[in-house]
Order: sequence, then C-alpha cells, then structure tokens
Amino acid sequence: MAILAPSLLGADFKNLERDIKAVEEAGAKYLHLDVMDGAFVPSISFGMPVIASLRGCTDLVFDVHMMVEEPVRYVKDLKKAGADLICVHAEACRHLDSTIAQIRQTGAKAGVALNPATPISAIDLVLPQVDMALIMSVNPGFGGQKFIPYTLEKVRALRKRVRELGLYVDIQVDGGVTLDNVDTILEAGANVVVAGSSVFHGEPGENVRKFLEIFGRTGNRDS
Ligand code: DX5
Ligand code: ZN
Repeated sequence: MAILAPSLLGADFKNLERDIKAVEEAGAKYLHLDVMDGAFVPSISFGMPVIASLRGCTDLVFDVHMMVEEPVRYVKDLKKAGADLICVHAEACRHLDSTIAQIRQTGAKAGVALNPATPISAIDLVLPQVDMALIMSVNPGFGGQKFIPYTLEKVRALRKRVRELGLYVDIQVDGGVTLDNVDTILEAGANVVVAGSSVFHGEPGENVRKFLEIFGRTGNRDS
C-alpha cells in the first residue's frame, strides 16, 4: 500500500505533540518535516532542535525535506536529531553525488527532490544511489498551494524510468495533494504522498483515515 507522509508544516505549531499523536494513532507511518533556510526558498521553518525534541514523542519515520542551500552541511546533525530519511534538492547541491553518499554514510536513507520546472533527467544518474525521489508538485516554500498538473507527467516518466532500470525507488509527491486528486497521483506512479493542509486543517485523525481508505482501494501498484 502507498505511504502517507503528513507534513508538519500544516500542523498547529502550538500543539505539535497533540497533532503528531493524532496522525500516528490514525495509522500514518511517516512524518514529513520541511526544513527551510530563507535562501533556497523564501521562508524559514524549523531545524534540528525542533526535530530532536519531537523525536522524543513519536516513533513515526522522520522524512526530512531539506529546502536548504548546500544541505550537505547539516546531514550529520540531522541524523543525530533523529532523521530517518534525508531528502535534498538537486538544485541546491553543488555536488549531488557526494551529498547523497554522505547521507548514506550517516545510516539515514537518502532522497533527492526536484522543483516543478526541473526535468527528471537531472537525477537520472543518481537514481541507483537513492531510496526515494521527490517530485515537487508546487514551488517549494509554503503549504496550502495549488497542485501543478504538469508535474504528473514527471511522475509517470520517472516511474517508467525506475522500472526500466530495474530499481526500487520510492516516488514521493509533495504539494497541493488533496483527497480529490490523490488517486490520480497514485495512478501516475507515486507511492509516498505528502499532505499538509489536507491532513492538519480540520480533524487530522479523520483526514488520515480518509487518505488511508483511498490507498486501500487503489491497491499496491508500486510500493
Ligand atoms: C512545501 C512543502 C510541503 C508542504 C505541503 O514547500 O515542501 O511539504 O508542507 O503542504 P500542502 O500539502 O498544504 O501543499
Ligand atoms: Zn515538503
């Protein structure tokens, strides 16, 4: 079955523990943590101290999305803070191959992300080195944006490419995912889905259950 990764950016920052417990109890397995530096993206979110402190209150897989210039500077500290998977933007790494290798050396899983306008060919050569590829379906930096439809073509093409290469690589989609479009996203070949506003706005536990119900119906195509 596909994996739901609720994005903490959509949560109530006054009540992070309460919101995390709600999605965990409803059956989510991942927690998507958006780290922003105010340089790669306009906004600033949170960093290692917050991640380390949350590590104490949940067993969810910490899926850290680094929207940061030269994220290689932080991989060791992120792993220490409790990251299970560290995902870096191809556009933000001067030495992508080396950055991925350094993530793997920490023992964390490695992911590589692409902005909407970056073609999938940018990561073709590193696909054998990563556990996950993230296709951004909005311009990174903020929650609550509208899904950009052309990114679905990238998901389809990437799933095809991963199959051609005989690899096992998770394909994650992030940005503007809702209960109404998630089915199409899974059909295109994604098997890890990030959802911020559509999980945390309203009743988080109930929203997670609705997503998981759709995942159950959509089956086990690519996970
Ligand atoms: C945006 C972040 C997302 C964001 C998604 O740059 O990478 O993870 O939280 O939020 P929604 O699901 O509201 O589009
Ligand atoms: Zn994200």
